[in-house]
Amino acid sequence: MAEALKNDPATENAPKNAVVEAIGLTKEFRDFWNRPKAKAVNDIDFTVREGEILGLLGPNGSGKSTTVKMLLGLLYPTAGQLAVFGKSPRDVDTKKLIGYLPEESYLYKYLTAYETLDFFGSLFGLSALEREKRATQLLEMVGLEHAKDRPIGEFSKGMIRRIGLAQAMINDPAFLILDEPTSGLDPLGCREVKDLILMLKKRGKTVVVTSHLLSDIEDVCDRVIILYGGRIRAQGTLSELLTIQSTNTITTPNLPPAAMEKLLAVLRSSLRDEEFKIDHPRMSLEEFFLDVVNKAQSESVETYGARAGGHIADYLSAGEQVPAASGKELLDALAGKEPEKKPEEKAPEEKQEIDSGRLQALEDDSLKTKAPAPEKPADDTPKRDFSEANKRLSSLLSGKADKEEKEQDEE
Ligand SMILES: Nc1ncnc2c1ncn2[C@@H]1O[C@H](COP(=O)(O)OP(=O)(O)O)[C@@H](O)[C@H]1O
Ligand SMILES: [Mg+2]
Repeated sequence: MAEALKNDPATENAPKNAVVEAIGLTKEFRDFWNRPKAKAVNDIDFTVREGEILGLLGPNGSGKSTTVKMLLGLLYPTAGQLAVFGKSPRDVDTKKLIGYLPEESYLYKYLTAYETLDFFGSLFGLSALEREKRATQLLEMVGLEHAKDRPIGEFSKGMIRRIGLAQAMINDPAFLILDEPTSGLDPLGCREVKDLILMLKKRGKTVVVTSHLLSDIEDVCDRVIILYGGRIRAQGTLSELLTIQSTNTITTPNLPPAAMEKLLAVLRSSLRDEEFKIDHPRMSLEEFFLDVVNKAQSESVETYGARAGGHIADYLSAGEQVPAASGKELLDALAGKEPEKKPEEKAPEEKQEIDSGRLQALEDDSLKTKAPAPEKPADDTPKRDFSEANKRLSSLLSGKADKEEKEQDEE
C-alpha cells in the first residue's frame, strides 16, 4: 500500500489518512456455467483520502456501481486488495461509518418519508428521540418536510432521490458513497445535491460520488477517476487534468478604452494579433438557469413536488459521534434484501416501536404485495414493479389463479 501511495502524485500535497485503498481491484462476473462473462472492473488502483470528494466518472457500464458495491462489501472482488478505513469492507465496524445512496433506491413504498427515515435510524440503533430529531431535520434539509406523511410509492423520481440522500445521512456517516446522486433531478435539485456534497466536505466527510454527468463531477470533486470498460483511463485533480498549461487567462474589471489601448499595445509588442483574444467570460447555462429560476421563485411562482431543500441538519456536525450499531442490516436493506429482526441490538424501550408491527408490515408488503402503488406523478419514469408478477406467481403456485381472476372480474 505504501508503495502505491508514494507513486501517487496527489498524496504529496495531501498527507491525510486513506479512507479507501484499492490495488489491482478486479471484478469479473461469471455466467451460469461459471464462464467469465464480463470484467466489470479490471485491475484498478486508487486511493480515497480523508476529507476528499472523489468523483468516479464514466459512461454507463464502465464499472462505477460495481466499484461502489465492492467498497460497501456487497460484492466480493475477484482479485486485488481493497481496504476501507484500513479494514475489509465486510467488517461490521467499517459499515457503521458508511452512508450509501444506491443507484436505484430499494425503499419500501408503503412507508411514508418520515417512517422510512425512522426505520433506517432504528437499524443503526438510534433512540426514538434521536430518530425523531434527525428525521425531522433531514426532511427539512432535502426539501421534503411537506411530504413527510406521504408514502414513498407516490413519490416522483426526484423526491425518491431526496429521501434516499436523507436516508444515507441518518447515521451521520464519516464516509458517504453516492451512486448517481443527481439522476432524475432537475437542475435545481442537482444544484442542491452538489451544495449538499460541498457542505459535507466542509464538515470533514469523505465522499465518493459517481456520475455520468460531467458537470456534476466538475463542480464538486477534488479528484476524478475516469473509468471506461472497467479500467481507469485518467485520474487526478481537476486542475491537473483540465488546466491547459500552454495558455493564460487574465480576468479584469471592464477596462475603460484608454486602459484597453495600453493593454493592447503591450500585447502587440510581443504577440501577433491572431495569437491573443480578448472577450467577456460567459456564465454556464446552469448558472443562468438557476438565476432565472431563483428570480421566478422570489416572485413566489408556485411549483409542485419537492420544494427547494432547507438548511443543513444540525446534527450533521463533524464533532458528533457516529452511533454504535451494525450497518449490515442497512446495507442489506439498501441492496434490496429483507430486513431482519435484531431485537438484541436495540434498547428495550425502543423494541416494540420498530420490531413487531413495522417489520411484519414490511415483510407483508415486499413478499405478498397488495394493492398496486398509487398513481405516480407524471414526471416519473417507469420502475421495475414485480408486484403483479409476484401475485400471479404465488397464486399459480397455490393453484388459485383461476379463482382469483374470477374474483377480480367480479370487482
Ligand atoms: N450482476 C451482474 N452480472 C453480470 N454483469 C454485470 C452485473 N453487474 C454489472 N454487470 C456488468 O458490468 C459492467 C459494469 O456495470 P456497472 O458497474 O453497473 O456500470 P456503471 O455503474 O458504470 O454504469 C456492465 O457491463 C454490466 O453489464
Ligand atoms: Mg451505475
